[in-house]
Amino acid sequence: MSQGEKPIPKWREDFPTEQENDDFITRRDFVRFLGLVSAGFVVGNGTLFVRSLWAEEGPFPEVEISGAMDLEEGQWLVFNYPDDKTPAILIRRETGEFISFLQKCTHLMCPVTYHPSEDGHGETIRCHCHNGEFDINTGQGIKGPPRDLRPLRQVVLRVEEDRVLAVSLNEIRFS
Ligand code: FES
Repeated sequence: MSQGEKPIPKWREDFPTEQENDDFITRRDFVRFLGLVSAGFVVGNGTLFVRSLWAEEGPFPEVEISGAMDLEEGQWLVFNYPDDKTPAILIRRETGEFISFLQKCTHLMCPVTYHPSEDGHGETIRCHCHNGEFDINTGQGIKGPPRDLRPLRQVVLRVEEDRVLAVSLNEIRFS
């Protein structure tokens, strides 16, 4: 080492790197990392999307909905249909009738919830992510982003004397 030169720290002797390339290497590695994460994200979401479509195409099982007969008018519950990873809602309407839809909002898949009548506003199904609202009779979006999308998919029910069964999904309708 000549006079005036800075002494080389011990850590740099142990971990020699070319300092002028540090940023370049870091940026390149960062971009590579981002690329890998993005690819993983796309593949993961794509797989989930295809699996969910597959599960919603039948053949459909007949599933007894646990707790259905305990619901009072204006109450609802969540169950899984047609597989054990797909949430759906069962609503006992204020009229006493049962109705059911898949719970994923048609906008960005947030869970939808049932709301009984209040302040002169009839029963509705709402999505709180972006203030979406659906017609409880048809599942058609009537407010917010779902207004321009396909309706909620309806679960077809069979109501027997002492139980309620989910038996299939209705056809996907595009408006
Ligand atoms: S996810 Fe439901 S309105 Fe956006």
